[in-house]
Amino acid sequence: MGYGVCGGQMTLTGKKIILGVTGSIAAYKAVELLRELTKAGASVLVAMTESAQRFVAPLTFATLSRQEVMTDLFARDDEATIRHVAAPHGADLFLVAPATADSIAKFAQGRADDLLSALFLACTRPIVLAPAMDAAMYRHPAVQANLTRLRTWGVRVVGPATGELASGVWGPGRLAEIADIMQTVTELLCPKSDLSGEVVLITAGPTRERLDPVRFLSTRASGKMGYALAEEAVARGAKTILVSGPSDLTPPQGVEIIRVETALQMRAAALDRLAEATVVIKAAAVSDYRPAHPAESKLTKRDAPLTLELVPNPDILHEIGAQKGTRIIVGFAAETSDVVRRAEQKLKKKNLDLIVANDVSQAEGGFESETNQVVLLDPEGGVDALPLLPKREVARRILDRVVSLRHEKQGGRVEG
Ligand code: PMT
Repeated sequence: MGYGVCGGQMTLTGKKIILGVTGSIAAYKAVELLRELTKAGASVLVAMTESAQRFVAPLTFATLSRQEVMTDLFARDDEATIRHVAAPHGADLFLVAPATADSIAKFAQGRADDLLSALFLACTRPIVLAPAMDAAMYRHPAVQANLTRLRTWGVRVVGPATGELASGVWGPGRLAEIADIMQTVTELLCPKSDLSGEVVLITAGPTRERLDPVRFLSTRASGKMGYALAEEAVARGAKTILVSGPSDLTPPQGVEIIRVETALQMRAAALDRLAEATVVIKAAAVSDYRPAHPAESKLTKRDAPLTLELVPNPDILHEIGAQKGTRIIVGFAAETSDVVRRAEQKLKKKNLDLIVANDVSQAEGGFESETNQVVLLDPEGGVDALPLLPKREVARRILDRVVSLRHEKQGGRVEG
């Protein structure tokens, strides 16, 4: 089984992983997972819950990992350090496979009454969970709510797979395939460079349309979605240009930032850099209108209604779509009703390769929040409804689609 290379070396060489094993019948599969991790070059420290030890003996993991297995919250090592606090600091990643409903609940509640939940809290590195349980348990709203909560904290959840479960029932709850878990671990530890050679032009944040020197028309956009896209694009090797409306965020390292205020300035900046862009992603919330006659000095209060004359701003994305060429163009659609249908209309009208339909009426998705919940729509009628995820994870999924689109445009094969 191969999972790609990392820096030209065997995939996980030199990486330190804590493998948490909890009390599921799938615990025996963690043995195979450990073998794959060590074969790929990782050094693996196994930590087991009490119930996991009922399914598989720690000796099995100790023998295969060539390290003592952690089983006790109160154990101290030779230097008398507290292991559940010290261990995560030396690790590159914490992987829990299988993760039972109980362990997931503990993580989501921030408890620390056993070794694994304490490790979870003490860990500042990427965390991956691979749930395994019976289908009814997995479908229970409590488990789903806990997983959503963990995802919004940035925890990566792999699987579960659907199939025949230990109970004989068919449904979701099987531990994800070992290859899928390995793929996720590799992605997190060895960032991809699948956008190298691309020049990604991203717009982010709001625009401000001046009414007078102290007032403006704008939207609630913070820039978080667009900045997350820029962060992900640069991490994956793209030359990244971020045209940003007013935002308090710090631009990601390695990204060229062009700051603008109005829609007209955003249009000028985007069109100015369009020639070199191979991918355009428009996450900005552009004001559709601007005041026709912004006042030179502050408007004074009167005892009569004030009527403002607004003129439409140019549709930047529409203009870019009209000059698409070989570029990949991704738009967003912020909607509060009839979300998918309206987004589909924008996808066609603006000649896009992909549109990110964003229901901005939800509290945890859309404007200002750390998370977003979107549906990816393509011109072939493909619909990919993503769960509520951190904006960085949404950015990752969008850029995965960009990579696939590039392969399709080049008539090449998409590698899994
Ligand atoms: O910045 P955050 O707080 O993280 O919020 C993220 C977000 C909600 C702003 C983002 O996820 C989002 O949905 N962005 C699109 C907002 C929007 O203006 O949508 P729209 O449906 O009005 O516009 C459709 C598309 O046309 C967008 O890609 C927009 O950038 C583009 N457009 C719109 C008007 C215009 N005059 N020019 C444009 O280019």
